[in-house]
Amino acid sequence: MFTIITGAQFGDEGKGKIVDLLAKDYDIVARFQGGNNAGHTVKVGDEVYKLHLIPSGILLDARVLIGPGVVLNPEVLAEEIAMLEKHKVRVDASKLGIDAKTSIIMPYHIEMDGLREAARTEKIGTTKRGIGYAYIDKVARDEVRLAELADRERFLARLEELAPQKEKEISALGGNPEIVRDQDLIEKYLELGKKFASCITDVSREINEALDAGKNVMAEAAQGTHLDVIHGTQKFVTSSSTISGSACANLGVGPTRVDNVTAIVKAYITRVGEGPLPTELTDETGEKIQKAGGEFGTTTGRGRRCGWFDLPLLKKAIALNGYTEIALTKLDVLTGLEQVRICTGYSFKGETVDYPPELTEDLQACEPVYEDLTGWDADLTGVKAFEDLPENARNYVSRLEELMGVPIRYISVGPGRAQTFKKQ
Ligand code: GDP
Ligand code: IMO
Ligand code: MG
Repeated sequence: MFTIITGAQFGDEGKGKIVDLLAKDYDIVARFQGGNNAGHTVKVGDEVYKLHLIPSGILLDARVLIGPGVVLNPEVLAEEIAMLEKHKVRVDASKLGIDAKTSIIMPYHIEMDGLREAARTEKIGTTKRGIGYAYIDKVARDEVRLAELADRERFLARLEELAPQKEKEISALGGNPEIVRDQDLIEKYLELGKKFASCITDVSREINEALDAGKNVMAEAAQGTHLDVIHGTQKFVTSSSTISGSACANLGVGPTRVDNVTAIVKAYITRVGEGPLPTELTDETGEKIQKAGGEFGTTTGRGRRCGWFDLPLLKKAIALNGYTEIALTKLDVLTGLEQVRICTGYSFKGETVDYPPELTEDLQACEPVYEDLTGWDADLTGVKAFEDLPENARNYVSRLEELMGVPIRYISVGPGRAQTFKKQ
């Protein structure tokens, strides 16, 4: 069985929590895009794990893989492994595989991301982790791959070949080009390359062989659908394709092998960084949701902008991903609101539309049209079954399901593993 899990909104939908929950039935969990711009939180008992690169299946028995479509900061990976090992989670080559072709985020990529963002008059609000610049180099065929990092001679030769151009680019951005050939950084990277050499694998081959043997494989996305570099709200997007089809392309698995595509959908919407968010709440209600939901970035600590559930954006996410089921998260966060609103359409150029216009500028001009439902007061965090939700919460979920036209299979009412139940 091959399942793809993606975020249906702007990221931070609770992918980490749901992947951890479902991973017990999977033999392999693989990350297919993004880098350490991602922050996936998994709460097990009193422990909270913030994962940036390692797939969220790591806390269970699954083998975890990092595919060649990921951009990998080896320093962050080493820190993450050290954090996990401190918690007695073993991460060795039998548990973690990384594709030989995975692009390495070099120190100069991080520098360039920061310089470019600082120079922009209209910011994107990137995580400044060098993600975009690592992907630029992949497409320009100027990337350093993990297999090169793990081999001293090849790494040094590759750097020698790339350095003059990188130095020019950094200087042009107003930075200090010395970072490109910084000996300490080079030695540190080489050490890291040595450390991960034993993890090198062919991810596509592993996954296809596992599927052939009847095993279960899950692909875990980072970011969210509307941050997709092709179909998102350009220019306010990340630099990789975040939708389900990208899992096939990036992991090297044919689309005919996909069995399920699971959406992670927050019961409201959040966004970190700039870009349109038609239902954004800049009032007390927005603050209340931000506080109740702990809506502060896992990676950068920035406050997440919060808004009401946006159905047009969700409909587009359903179209882009072909979802077969939905996991609805953070329903508990809406407790205590007198009214809960669902944005069912937008007022745009004098008309009401139920699907987002394609261009970011047009989405920015959309005014939400709302359907209002009565809220609920009861604490949901201990609820174990749909029938036990307060009537108004059930009405909200049922209405969302009806409007989305895709079954809601899981409902999450808190960050813990036990705080999730199946709807049907
Ligand atoms: P991801 O990037 O999609 O994995 O999401 P993040 O981990 O960045 O953000 C989701 C946050 O919400 C984390 O702090 C989770 O522990 C938390 N969370 C997940 N599901 C729920 C839920 O149902 N209720 C509440 N209150 N918190 C949740
Ligand atoms: P997870 O996997 C939310 C956003 C950044 C910025 C834009 C581009 O935890 O859901 P980048 O550094 O990728 O070039 O920044 O994308 N962004 C995310 N927002 N969750 C994420 O990941 C994100 N990863 C990137 O805030 O607006
Ligand atoms: Mg996150």
